[in-house]
Amino acid sequence: MGAPELAGAGTIGKTDAMRQLAAARGRLQRKLGDVDLAAVGLSAYNQRYLGHKLAVIEGELQQVSDLLTMCLAGSTVPLERFTLLDYGGGSGVISLLAKEAGIGTVIYNDIYDVSCEDASALAGALGVQLDGIVCGDIGEVLAYLREQRRVLNAVVSYDVLEHIYDVPSFFGALATAPMSDRFFRLVFASGANIKNPRYVRWVTKVHRTDELEGTEPGWGHKERDSVRPFLEIRRELIAAAAPDLDVAQVDDLARATRGLRIDDIERAVEEYREHGAISYRPDHPTNTCDPYTGNWSEHLMDPAWLERVVREAGFDATVEAGRYATAGGGPKPAVKRLLNAAIGAFGSRALPIASYYVVYADRAAAPARAG
Ligand SMILES: C[S@@+](CC[C@H](N)C(=O)[O-])C[C@H]1O[C@@H](n2cnc3c(N)ncnc32)[C@H](O)[C@@H]1O
Repeated sequence: MGAPELAGAGTIGKTDAMRQLAAARGRLQRKLGDVDLAAVGLSAYNQRYLGHKLAVIEGELQQVSDLLTMCLAGSTVPLERFTLLDYGGGSGVISLLAKEAGIGTVIYNDIYDVSCEDASALAGALGVQLDGIVCGDIGEVLAYLREQRRVLNAVVSYDVLEHIYDVPSFFGALATAPMSDRFFRLVFASGANIKNPRYVRWVTKVHRTDELEGTEPGWGHKERDSVRPFLEIRRELIAAAAPDLDVAQVDDLARATRGLRIDDIERAVEEYREHGAISYRPDHPTNTCDPYTGNWSEHLMDPAWLERVVREAGFDATVEAGRYATAGGGPKPAVKRLLNAAIGAFGSRALPIASYYVVYADRAAAPARAG
């Protein structure tokens, strides 16, 4: 497999990046079309997950290349010296396209060990060399970057933010990552768009199912995720932490701790014992997370709050409406073009018609020194 053509030095304009990515997309699409996921040894989870992507791969790769364009546009770092972190990379498609497009150093991360192994196997099968695979949360990523003396130019992430348990702490930690003084950008996109009423109608049903009914672990189920109703799990955790509470108290506390992970549930139990009440309030009527891992079921977050959180961590952030890939599933291409025109014209005010949002940020300029 030949090496992709690279951009040379100079500022990477939006159109340069788009041109290079378009060529890389075609090559990757062909390689992915030829690969047998089962023969590569991918887990059932990623065979299912990636299988869905492959069914609409042209649109998927268009969307990924939009995100990578956002990462690269305006950079003066030559592409071959650019270092990108793909946070929560799953089956690895973003990393694969980034590498295929000629980005010099691509570091893949995921919290799920099965996906880390799958991404590595898939990259190997496609003849793509990922430069680092970091299995773990942000703490492991930071440790890796320091150990390997890697300095980041960009972090890209798709459909991960809505699963991260403590978003303010996450961005606070990310702000301590080694970042290039020359160019640094964050592009965190998520389909959990609270402003899109159609999506919210669908996802709140998912929240209620996870909270109250549980799910059937079919073929390709993710082993890390609990399938029992989250409310029931919290009841058990609370009863185990405080055997002296009666059934009604346990139930009240279990309902009041929706959206908390086991460590915070246990802290809430302590607070309840001391004060007879807890201070925590769920941030939304249906948001809920897996009590063992803190993995949210598509956490709906207010964009204004999110923007503030990322700014407080030290980034110059905006939350923007993501553009539709004109290929792939969903509305007809002509409709998507119209929607994209509206997104272009109205910016973040177009979030109600966008299928995803993007937290787009550069590092905030250091305040000018007085004197
Ligand atoms: C919906 S998948 C998206 C995967 C991939 N980014 C994509 O676009 O296909 C969410 C991914 O985020 C990972 N994840 C969730 N929480 C994480 C965390 N705190 N740190 C790193 N990865 C995380 C999950 O294991 C999963 O692979």
